[in-house]
Amino acid sequence: MGYRHAEAYRNHDRCRVVACADVVPENGDAFADAFDVPAENVFEDYERMLEAVGPDIVSIAVPPAIHEAIVVGCAKHDAVRAINCEKPMSHTWASAQRMVQACWRYDTQLTFNRQRRFAKPFTEANRLLEEGEIGDLSRIEIGWGDFYDTGAHSVDLAGMFAGDRPAEWVIAQLDYREEDVRFGAHQENQMWAQWAYDNGVHAVSSTGRRTELIDSAFVLRGTEGTVRIDVDGGPMLELERGGQREVIDVDGENIHNAGSEPADRLGSFFHDRLVEHLVDSLDSGDEPALSGRIGLNTAEILFAGYESVRRRGRVDLPLEIDDNPFEEMIESGVLSPEPADD
Ligand SMILES: NC(=O)c1ccc[n+]([C@@H]2O[C@H](COP(=O)([O-])OP(=O)(O)OC[C@H]3O[C@@H](n4cnc5c(N)ncnc54)[C@H](O)[C@@H]3O)[C@@H](O)[C@H]2O)c1
Repeated sequence: MGYRHAEAYRNHDRCRVVACADVVPENGDAFADAFDVPAENVFEDYERMLEAVGPDIVSIAVPPAIHEAIVVGCAKHDAVRAINCEKPMSHTWASAQRMVQACWRYDTQLTFNRQRRFAKPFTEANRLLEEGEIGDLSRIEIGWGDFYDTGAHSVDLAGMFAGDRPAEWVIAQLDYREEDVRFGAHQENQMWAQWAYDNGVHAVSSTGRRTELIDSAFVLRGTEGTVRIDVDGGPMLELERGGQREVIDVDGENIHNAGSEPADRLGSFFHDRLVEHLVDSLDSGDEPALSGRIGLNTAEILFAGYESVRRRGRVDLPLEIDDNPFEEMIESGVLSPEPADD
């Protein structure tokens, strides 16, 4: 992901990739080769990089459990004005909140890399909502990916459709019978979760194995119609109103990439749009759509979903725990997945 971030900075007319830090020296050297970073600006320790180079913007593309240490370390450094960190935000609820507090305290712009907010299937769906094409949004259904890893995108996008409001409660159940560890974090095999935003919009997420309940990545149900995104075996974006279904043009983009990226491209055009947005936000002082504060709305739903499983009941928010209940249930033996057969 670091390469994808760097490619997008390289494509921005006011950005230059000036340095990198990686605890594995060969990885740092390979990255430096790819982005013409001079040898004296390649570091193993990010703090030495900050001291020596003083970058304006730092991208953090390491596993979630390390995010807080590096985000807070960068926020404290005078030179750093903006941090763009990979999703999922963090490995625990308390850690996610501490990062946002630290960046607020040091007045550093903090964003999390939910690049899909810049993908046409989602921006066009949002436009349909804003233009009142389906009346008032009442329910969001997610039938894509999983709860924690993809959820950092899908629950974030649900939040965008719901007007970036916080949730009021979450109820959930999961199945974890075969071990699945990604970027150092356990990932359930199947999950059902339901929550309500404080503006009355409800959401459900049915994800993982054996879930064919929802026929699209997203279904947005309103008082006068329905929007479907990435319909199984159907169009990328569809508007249903008055019994008629209409395909909405998204310029060939899908939920993963723009579809028109050249073959030598590392990441999608969505990352370029994201970098443009975060530089524009730095200039204007406006809160970016990917801000840490908005990211907390998503992280709270994800950790509250796991807390609902642990508590065997609905969790009313704000969430008053510190840990990651899913990881705790594995450590304590409440959940004991079998090793995956590769
Ligand atoms: N936005 C997205 O769509 C998306 C997609 C895939 C992955 N991700 C996220 O991106 C993150 C990174 O994923 P990746 O596929 O690039 O992983 P990766 O393992 O390919 O790269 C991570 C790099 O970080 C280095 N590293 C680890 N600890 C470090 C430290 N303390 N200081 C400096 N460098 C350190 C590693 O040596 C490695 O080179 C993960 O958190 C993952 O969840 C996001």
